[in-house]
Amino acid sequence: MEEEKTRDYVSEIKRMKTAKNAIILAHYYQTEDIQDIADFVGDSLALSQKAASNDAEIILFAGVKFMAETAKILAPEKKVLIPDLNTGCSLADSCKPEDFKRFIRENPGRTVVSYVNTTVEIKALSDIICTSSNAVQIVNSLPEGEKILFAPDRNLGNYVMKKTGRDIKVWNGTCHVHEEFSLEAILKLKEENPGSKIIVHPECELPVRMVADFIGSTAGLLQFTKQDSGSCYIIATEAGIIHQMKKENPDKKYIPAPPKDSTCGCSECNFMKLITLEKIYKCLKSEKPEILIERKLLADAQKPIKRMMEISKNLVVNP
Ligand code: 13P
Ligand code: SF4
Repeated sequence: MEEEKTRDYVSEIKRMKTAKNAIILAHYYQTEDIQDIADFVGDSLALSQKAASNDAEIILFAGVKFMAETAKILAPEKKVLIPDLNTGCSLADSCKPEDFKRFIRENPGRTVVSYVNTTVEIKALSDIICTSSNAVQIVNSLPEGEKILFAPDRNLGNYVMKKTGRDIKVWNGTCHVHEEFSLEAILKLKEENPGSKIIVHPECELPVRMVADFIGSTAGLLQFTKQDSGSCYIIATEAGIIHQMKKENPDKKYIPAPPKDSTCGCSECNFMKLITLEKIYKCLKSEKPEILIERKLLADAQKPIKRMMEISKNLVVNP
């Protein structure tokens, strides 16, 4: 019965996509069934690049709200749909416009670099945006000696500071998924799986980053498992990415890094997992909820995003 329902949703979604000239863009943290019906699966930079260049009239975004907003900012003439408006993000939610304005006021003379995991209001207050794929590249593109404010992820901010050696003041936000990985459990897994490699998203805490064999964005981690000669990986990011890793190299072993609290499913992003096939079906049918952004706010947020897109246009992000 459940299988039949899924089959019906999948065929109806496919039919409506063609009839309405719609595409589905999905983040790597979506469930496997959603990744499999998407026209394009990627990390936040690749998804932004795809949103900015496609021929569809409708973009249905299977991801979280800030990602759908970014798609709308880059393709304002298109209808951008998101199946659930409650798809927040602990980073975006940690950075409220009033507090952020004060942060900027209290640190004058610094270039404001904001992670894409922010609301449209925060983007509009920023000089340039970055994603985890291009954060180091974006900061390195700024003139030497330029002082920087980085928000909202303190782990990514500290990682970029170390990589670039720049003077960066970091906002104190964290992601509830990436903060939760247990160093102890990761090291135990490494011991139990000789030859395994620990691969880590830069949103993870310093102790976890310190034991990493490789640090990268979701696309970077996927690329690493594809090109590396190893056969077993302990993955410290949201477990959804493992679906693509298995598709690329089914014979390798992928172990999701466990959270500190073994009773919680913290290696899954509860916001990402709010999206379901049923919600996608309903959303495409009713063409609601739609992402709408007031014209001036959109224009203000577009400038720093376009600046990032220009710098990153030659970055290979979709392995
Ligand atoms: P990516 O930039 O790797 O897609 O990461 C986005 C994100 O939300 C990580 O938690
Ligand atoms: Fe936000 Fe963390 Fe979810 Fe990524 S995994 S969308 S940073 S809450």
